[in-house]
Amino acid sequence: MSGHNVRKPLTALMAEANEEGHGTLKRHLGPIALVLLGIGAIIGAGLFSLTGKVAAEHAGPAVTLSFVISAIGCAFAGLCYAEFASMIPIAGSAYTYSFATMGRFWAWVIGWDLVLEYAVGAAMVAISWSQYLNRLLLMHEIHIPHALMAGPFEGGVINLPAVFIVACMSLLLARGTRESAGVNAVIVTLKVAVVLIFILLGWTYIDGANYVPYIPVNTGTFGEFGWSGILQGAGIIFFAYIGFDAVSTAAQEAKNPQRSMPIGILGSLAICTVLYVLFAHVMTGLAPYTAFGGATDKLAPVATAIAHTPYVWLQQIVIVAILAGYSSVILVMLLGQSRVFFSMSRDGLLPPVFSQVHPRYHTPWRSNMLFLVFVGLFAGLVPGDVVGEMTSIGTLLAFVLVCIGVIIMRNRMPEAPRGFRTPLVPLVPILGIIVCGLMMAALPWDTWLRLVVWLAIGMWVYFKYSVKHAKY
Ligand code: ALA
Repeated sequence: MSGHNVRKPLTALMAEANEEGHGTLKRHLGPIALVLLGIGAIIGAGLFSLTGKVAAEHAGPAVTLSFVISAIGCAFAGLCYAEFASMIPIAGSAYTYSFATMGRFWAWVIGWDLVLEYAVGAAMVAISWSQYLNRLLLMHEIHIPHALMAGPFEGGVINLPAVFIVACMSLLLARGTRESAGVNAVIVTLKVAVVLIFILLGWTYIDGANYVPYIPVNTGTFGEFGWSGILQGAGIIFFAYIGFDAVSTAAQEAKNPQRSMPIGILGSLAICTVLYVLFAHVMTGLAPYTAFGGATDKLAPVATAIAHTPYVWLQQIVIVAILAGYSSVILVMLLGQSRVFFSMSRDGLLPPVFSQVHPRYHTPWRSNMLFLVFVGLFAGLVPGDVVGEMTSIGTLLAFVLVCIGVIIMRNRMPEAPRGFRTPLVPLVPILGIIVCGLMMAALPWDTWLRLVVWLAIGMWVYFKYSVKHAKY
């Protein structure tokens, strides 16, 4: 047993990164597969649902500026992730980086916190998935009883479609990472195609009058239009970018990670930023921002925008693509979750079951099955709005710690080989800490309370189990 501040030696990390053979993860993902993995995790509920909500309630047509501000915060964090992922190419992502820089205690905090991003995030997207499925089925006059569409807190029994999609994605992951990456590539192609078609077809129907005023006047309440609305919108729309960091959890399965990791992380973030800004520009150009405020429009702003073009027939195709798109977000989130717990388990902080690799499929399949149950129960029983902001605060905390980690690593090991170097250290990490910290500060106090409660449960597990079994 060692102290809470003990850091995992870089030599041990590099030895793990170079492990091969039975019981290890296989390196078969190239840079393109990694960029696709990133896009697979990024484009989802944030773009297809939250763009309309932020336009209607916070920023008006200037939701595009919210996207830009949020992207800036992500870019700072992404540059720090890229340095770490090219330097320590193993599965644990932010958890591993914290172990190497800030010691075991902080590594635990971040590993536990990442459950909010990956497992809870996957549950939330699964809940949105079930709502879109319901919408599609209703178009064909198929009605799922409310009892099977909502958990007990919302007057139902269980959200069965949400459990179903979590189960499908977990089984696919347990079957194999290469198979999962293949399915992901098909889905990503489909959803990027839909985003591009929406932008290209919609562009000619933009009505310039919808951009006036571009920044609606603030109502007198912080966050309701004006610049404060744009800023609060950036905090909410941040959810749309979550996922580029999930690429780093696949570092142990990447070929030539020194080069492919930065390409995967920064490439997927850059592509999505451009798509998001164009998408939001077209969406708010097709209809007045107030049109996205209705109860059903908020859920499906894309359908509302399409209704302002002659392409109404596109609606169903778009919903199918959105369903597929959400599936890949869930897939990559679940992948990230199992890989973080894989690393924590190998370090003795969690039971060995989380790092047992299937002899033939080379996946941590038992972990996949345990998360099928955990995420499935969460998605089936808990209301979606409770979990969305928890995902954001958990992710932002991870980003802040990764930015701090880069500064510490540069001081402690200035000479260690790095495939990619974050530019302008410490300026870029400090800006990342400030922008992500501000977005955290903009989140409501009850979200902070849930974060504290979750971390307190983590402390209990840490002192009851991890401290006794830790290898470092
Ligand atoms: N970025 C992911 C989404 O928008 C989490 O669904």
